[in-house]
Amino acid sequence: MKNDLYRPLRIGSLGLDGNLFLAPMSGCTDSAFRSICVGYGAKLTFTGLVSAEALVRRSAASEGLLRRAANEAVYAVQLFGASPEVMGEAAALLAPYRPGLVDINAGCPVPKVTRCGAGAALMRTPEKLARIVEAVAGAARDALGGIPVSVKLRSGWDAGSINFAECSRFSVEAGASLVSLHARTRAQGYSGKSCWRHIAELADALPVPVAGSGDLYSPEDAALMLEETGCAAVMFARGALGNPFIFTATRALLLGRKAETPDAALCVTTALRQLEMFAEDAGEASACRQMRKVFCAYTKGLHGAAPLRARLVQAKTIAEYRSLLESFLA
Ligand SMILES: Cc1cc2nc3c(=O)[nH]c(=O)nc-3n(C[C@H](O)[C@H](O)[C@H](O)COP(=O)(O)O)c2cc1C
Repeated sequence: MKNDLYRPLRIGSLGLDGNLFLAPMSGCTDSAFRSICVGYGAKLTFTGLVSAEALVRRSAASEGLLRRAANEAVYAVQLFGASPEVMGEAAALLAPYRPGLVDINAGCPVPKVTRCGAGAALMRTPEKLARIVEAVAGAARDALGGIPVSVKLRSGWDAGSINFAECSRFSVEAGASLVSLHARTRAQGYSGKSCWRHIAELADALPVPVAGSGDLYSPEDAALMLEETGCAAVMFARGALGNPFIFTATRALLLGRKAETPDAALCVTTALRQLEMFAEDAGEASACRQMRKVFCAYTKGLHGAAPLRARLVQAKTIAEYRSLLESFLA
């Protein structure tokens, strides 16, 4: 393995001291989880999808999505929308949140999003994608202090229209300083293998850094993607759910050091810390409901945790979670 795979990164005017990112995941990358991942070494974190239309309507729901964690020195806000004007206006409204980067979603496969011409549908209209990048980059320059703009793409709409190269070129010409590629098509959704060859082709062709996404479940996967594709950064997504320790372990692997395997106590106390932080934003009852699947992810693979999971999914208060976890550890 090459010895320079963990490295600092420059994205336009933004300097980062490492190249391990937490990918945007709607419903998962709230400020509590992002904060935990930053604590374990994520160098750039992304919010989930924030609707540009909702933002310009000043919807209260967007406020919550934009909340930044205390330890997040830099975070990226991901906007989605289909109108260049609205996307530009929404980007300008991000000023009070002081993001380090504005990311444009051009990969979401959800029909509710693509039907409006947003998300992955933008890959079917590369000229419109370019106008959106231009509008957001203009707002970033005029209202956000010149922070960089990035675009998150898929390989294409479907197997018959693989056009990530064209969409990336249009995006960079319009002002994007980073392109993230989830190397699956919109038609693949989240299944099937991601095609890392596309990431390699893009890293080779673009004058700006490329972040690779797709099938990163272990430090070894990240090392392999960096080495095989030459991408500048890797974005952990499903591989980080219930496993924020993957950032520390990957950094250690890339630097040729040994990483500690997290024990049951660390998994459980980290999950509890995430719940407590999330409850501050979402309220205790809602946080306890929404965090059930998160606790299942944190305890996956722990010896004897199946009966614990069966009880955790019924927990309604933080005190109940804590008591179940304490008995498990005892
Ligand atoms: C639950 C979930 C929510 C996601 N939400 C978003 C999103 O809001 N914006 C986005 O660009 N990608 C989103 N993604 C895609 C991820 O950022 C990532 O590109 C994808 O999961 C591929 O990586 P993986 O195979 O390592 O999980 C989401 C993925 C998952 C699993």
